[in-house]
Amino acid sequence: MDNDFPGIGRTYRVDFIDFRVEMHFASATSLTYTVITQDGAQGASETVTVGIRAITDGIFLVTWQEADKTTVVHVEDYVKKTIVTNITNPDLTFEQHLGTFVETGSTMTAPSFATDIKTMFSAGQILCMKNKGVRLDDFNFMSNATGDQTFADHANGRHVFARLRGDGPGQRMPPGGPFWTQPMLDKFQAWMDGGFSP
Ligand code: HEM
Repeated sequence: MDNDFPGIGRTYRVDFIDFRVEMHFASATSLTYTVITQDGAQGASETVTVGIRAITDGIFLVTWQEADKTTVVHVEDYVKKTIVTNITNPDLTFEQHLGTFVETGSTMTAPSFATDIKTMFSAGQILCMKNKGVRLDDFNFMSNATGDQTFADHANGRHVFARLRGDGPGQRMPPGGPFWTQPMLDKFQAWMDGGFSP
């Protein structure tokens, strides 16, 4: 991988005309792509291991294989902001699409616990739950990677999220409301998806 690859840590919205995706490079080997639906919402998402090679200044070959064996070869031009994607589907059909992209990075970067998550809990809520062993203001507790019978990983954080959404067993939190709004829930989800950053 070439050190000059500009995508690391950034998020891009790519318009291939027939379909749109969002790409986020967490590192030089990790790409998360998310389908963007007609109405602009985020759809299916997958994180893949990518290979990146510089072709010439600002132009990179980015390749990966998806879980279902779909093989993707991108020629990404960071000067002209264009991508040629070459896709071999699991049934061996082949497609090629030309896309243009824009960086949406700063608004899409993963939230951090200290500035984005902890601040959404009130002192009273933190105290109430501290007595029950749920330490809402404690990064180490909230980001603990250990799983349990319900969640394979990060059980503490995921139980908190389930209570905030009210879609699991037990009463929705905080008791009696006011319940978190969708943007607040989205931020918590993004914090988890982004790797439970401090
Ligand atoms: C947004 C803030 C809150 C979150 C995210 C939250 C989260 C949770 C979670 C994850 C549990 C399950 C704990 C377990 O099973 O071990 C729980 C239980 C509980 N929480 Fe909270 N809580 C919040 C606010 C509050 C507040 C303010 C109170 C008190 C007024 C409270 C009272 C309780 C009680 C009594 C239980 C045990 C009963 C049950 O499981 O439903 N919570 N909460």
